[in-house]
Amino acid sequence: MIINYYGHSCFSLNIDGTRILLDPFISGNPKAVSVDVDALSPDYILLSHGHQDHVLDVEKIYAQSKCQVISTFEVVNWFAVKGVENVLPMNHGGKAVFNFGTVKMVNAVHSSSMPDGSYGGNPVGFLIEASGKRIYYAGDTALTLDMKLIGETGKVDFAFFPIGDNFTMGIEDAVKGAEFVNTKKVIGMHYDTFPVIEIDKDYAVEYFQKNGLDLTLMTIGESIEL
Ligand code: NI
Ligand code: MN
Repeated sequence: MIINYYGHSCFSLNIDGTRILLDPFISGNPKAVSVDVDALSPDYILLSHGHQDHVLDVEKIYAQSKCQVISTFEVVNWFAVKGVENVLPMNHGGKAVFNFGTVKMVNAVHSSSMPDGSYGGNPVGFLIEASGKRIYYAGDTALTLDMKLIGETGKVDFAFFPIGDNFTMGIEDAVKGAEFVNTKKVIGMHYDTFPVIEIDKDYAVEYFQKNGLDLTLMTIGESIEL
């Protein structure tokens, strides 16, 4: 599985040729100017909630790829009115089956409104099972005991956790979250994009290491194979 990082909380997963894009916020991110949004042509877009820093480029990428957009009922209906017709509405606890594997919507503790201020339902995270791997994408969230439910059903091969603090959990809570979901490998997200979420990256990596965990902080534009 190949993982590409496009800045903030936006990643793409290439699972045996199927491309899944998560929370696209690229054209509004000054740190991601090197990413060519026009070149993105995913098969699916997963959205964790309606905030602009997670959904900004959905319409553009949909127009050029006609990918399926998967999120909560409220988020996909907001996009459907704007012409994004290939959608799959889901909600907490639900699992959907795809050709690449399954996606389950899990709890996140945060808020959700659409960029125009309209109601955005409740925020979610995703548990993706594909290619023999379990992958957890936390979305924007605080640390919550609900994460233990994920860990109780088996180990997670790697997990995407927000670590920027202020709007989401920070470094220390992400370590606790990694223990809850039963993973040793974390890819950090939702940090350094804005001044209030700037972090000390050396401290973050060391703190994870001290707790027996591996934290990967990808460079924008970088891809890794896991
Ligand atoms: Ni948010
Ligand atoms: Mn956010």
